Amino acid sequence: MIGRICGTGSYVPDHFLDNNDLSQMVETSDEWIRERTGVVRRHIVQEDTVVSMAVKASRRALEGSGIAPEDLDLIIVSTFTSEVLLPSTACEVQKELGAGNATCFDLNAACTGFLFAWNTAQAYLAQGMYRNALIIGAERLSRYVDWKDRSTCILFGDGAGAAVLKAEKGSTLPMFTHSDGAKGEALTCFTRPDTYIQMEGQAVFRFAVKKVPEAVEELLKKADMTMEDIDYLVLHQANRRIVEAVAKRLKTDISRFPMNLQEYGNTSSASIPILLDEMNREGKLKRGQKIILAGFGAGLSWGASLVEW
Ligand code: ACO
Repeated sequence: MIGRICGTGSYVPDHFLDNNDLSQMVETSDEWIRERTGVVRRHIVQEDTVVSMAVKASRRALEGSGIAPEDLDLIIVSTFTSEVLLPSTACEVQKELGAGNATCFDLNAACTGFLFAWNTAQAYLAQGMYRNALIIGAERLSRYVDWKDRSTCILFGDGAGAAVLKAEKGSTLPMFTHSDGAKGEALTCFTRPDTYIQMEGQAVFRFAVKKVPEAVEELLKKADMTMEDIDYLVLHQANRRIVEAVAKRLKTDISRFPMNLQEYGNTSSASIPILLDEMNREGKLKRGQKIILAGFGAGLSWGASLVEW
C-alpha cells in the first residue's frame, strides 16, 4: 500500500513583520536581509497557538479530501514549538477536529520534521496498520526567537501546513531520513536559562548545501530516475541562497524549485506542507507528477522523499 495525498491545507497568522519593521528592532536593513536570505516578510502569531494553527490547516486539508475527521486513524504532528508539552499537539488537534478514531502523537525533527512525519505515516500505511492519515507541520518559532539577535530573528516565522493521506494499492516510493547528533551543536534551543534558537549560521548553510543535493541524488538512484523525471523539488524554505545553491549543484533550473520563503521566512517543519498547499491551490500539481520533498535542520537531520501526485 502507498499513502496518496488527497487533501492539503495551510494557515498562517495575518499579522506580519516586514524587513523594515525588523530594522526598527535590530541593526539590520531590508537590503541585507533580502540579499542574504530572500526573506521579505514573516507572519507572526498574535492570538493563535500551535494547536489552533494546526487545526485550521487540517480543516482546510480535510475539506477537499473526501475523508471525514472520524475516518482518520492516524494523526502525526511535527513541532518543536508547542506552548503545551502535555497533552501532545496531535491529541489536541484530534479533540478539536472530532477525530476520535485516530491514534495521535507528536514528533520533533526540527525543520526536517514534515519529512519524518511523511515517512512514518507511509510506513504505517504500507503495513496496512492504518488507512487514513493526517500529517501536520505546525510551528510558532516567534516564541523561541531572541528578538535582539539580528543573526536569527530575521529568519523565522509562524504557520502550519497539513496533508491528508489515503492508503491505495501500490508500492511505497523511495524515502529516507538521516541524523547526525554529533553535529547537533550547530543549531540548538535549550529550555534553560533562556529559551532561544541559537545557530552557527554558516555551518548550517554549508551542511544544507552539501547534504540536500546528496539526499536528492541518493533518492533518484533508489528510484532509478534522473532529474528529468522530476517535476518539482519542494525544499525546506530556509534561505533563498540555499535553494539556489542546491539547484546549481544539481545542475537543474531554479524554476523547478518553488519558493515562498519571501512571504513567510523559515517556518521550520511547516514550510514544506505550506508550500505544497499553495502549489496545489494554484493548480500547479497534476496527477502523476513526480515531486521530491527535501528537508534539513537541527539534529542535525535531513532527508528526501519521492511523491507521486
Ligand atoms: N543584518 C545586518 N548584518 C548582519 C545581520 C543582519 N540581520 N546578521 C548578521 N549580520 C552581520 C554579521 O554580524 C557579520 O558581520 P561582521 O562581518 O562584521 O562580523 C556579517 O553580517 C556576516 O555574517 P554571516 O553570519 O557571515 O552572514 P551570512 O552570509 O552567513 O548570512 C545567515 C547569515 C543568513 C544566517 C546564513 O548563514 C544562513 O542562512 N545560514 C543557514 C541558516 C538556516 O538555514 N537555518 C535554519 C536551519 S533549519 C532549522 O532546523 C531551524
